Amino acid sequence: MGKTAFITGINGQDGSYLAEFLIEKGYTVWGILKRNSVAENQTYRIDSIRNNPNLHLSYGDLIDLASLVHVLQKCQPDEIYNLAAQSHVRISFDQPIYTAQVTGIGTLNLLEAVRLACPKARIYQASSSEMFGNNIDADGYQRETTALSPVSPYGCAKVFSHNICCNYRNSYNMFISNGILFNHESPRRGSNFVTNKVAKEAAKIKLGLSQKLVLGNMEATRDWGHAKDYVRAMWMILQHDTPDDFVCATGISHSVQYLVDYVFGLLDLDVNQYVETDPRYLRPEELRDLKGDCTKMKTALGWKPEYTFESMMKEMVDYWMDFYTKK
Ligand code: NAP
Ligand code: GDD
Repeated sequence: MGKTAFITGINGQDGSYLAEFLIEKGYTVWGILKRNSVAENQTYRIDSIRNNPNLHLSYGDLIDLASLVHVLQKCQPDEIYNLAAQSHVRISFDQPIYTAQVTGIGTLNLLEAVRLACPKARIYQASSSEMFGNNIDADGYQRETTALSPVSPYGCAKVFSHNICCNYRNSYNMFISNGILFNHESPRRGSNFVTNKVAKEAAKIKLGLSQKLVLGNMEATRDWGHAKDYVRAMWMILQHDTPDDFVCATGISHSVQYLVDYVFGLLDLDVNQYVETDPRYLRPEELRDLKGDCTKMKTALGWKPEYTFESMMKEMVDYWMDFYTKK
């Protein structure tokens, strides 16, 4: 019989790709949806599998412990992927308490629900490179051993989740692994994250639908990979014989300025004519540079990315050109 997986955040960028990946592998997939007043907005990322008999959706929320216990008792999963979060770093400064409740305490609710309903299930926790803050090892990379020193409410909440997962792993002998993932993108990325904001606005400018792209910090650098490569990594992490922590990254980083130059170059647009900066997109404390060393993922699990930064950004630009051309 095939395995059963439970995904929080199933309608998010990663959750939607992961659900497709697991169904393709023969899993039965359960997921929770946080109630939204516009029902159509809840499932558009999982439209391709919405009617698959192996997909089961129910309402649930990370800050509602009872909803987690009920669904876990019903589905009795072999594997749990905790991807739900208030995941936007800038917004975590506007809503720090809500972010701590969902992205921090929400994980603890899930761990307690698992202890009550299905303690043998394997758990993947979506940890983040944002947890490192501005700590960089002497060779310029962040890795599993780099000290955690977050610079945002979101990063602080993720550190709590990361640490409580290690604590439950050691205290209760539970199979819990943390994937410390660096930034990963796709056409399904929320369009208020910088890669998709740039791809979308550049396409609109090219088609005469917009005149301006307004950004914040152009000097920050990020290690950007593709979400499809990273959900495959999540699954590989849970197939490993022991629970552990793994950094997942490409090892190549670019500045926001480079991202803009690259995307505008693809569309033959003049950056100086269309791009402006505005302090309203800056964060009270900035995370300057991220570049990950994923040697452990490569050697222990045999993972390697299939997309490059260039092929990923081209896919995103093509998506938006197509979207606005058909509109
Ligand atoms: P995303 O697109 O923002 O998806 C987040 C998901 O969480 C959405 O399905 C959202 O539902 C759901 N959610 C939010 N609050 C919830 C709550 N209280 N209860 C239940 N569900 C809730 O994020 P992503 O890019 O897929 O990232 C997945 C996970 O990896 C997140 O935990 C993120 O912090 C982490 N991470 C992401 C990256 C990255 O670069 N993408 C890197 C490192 C770590 P609604 O859409 O209905 O609100
Ligand atoms: N969002 C946004 N909007 N970012 C901008 C803008 C803008 O207009 N202008 C410049 N930036 C810069 C940000 O200051 C940051 O340095 C960089 O672009 C990337 O910002 P985001 O795309 O918002 O991602 P993030 O790095 O803050 O957070 C993402 O990656 C984390 C992993 O490191 C999120 O996916 C987090 O959930 C994830 O944990």
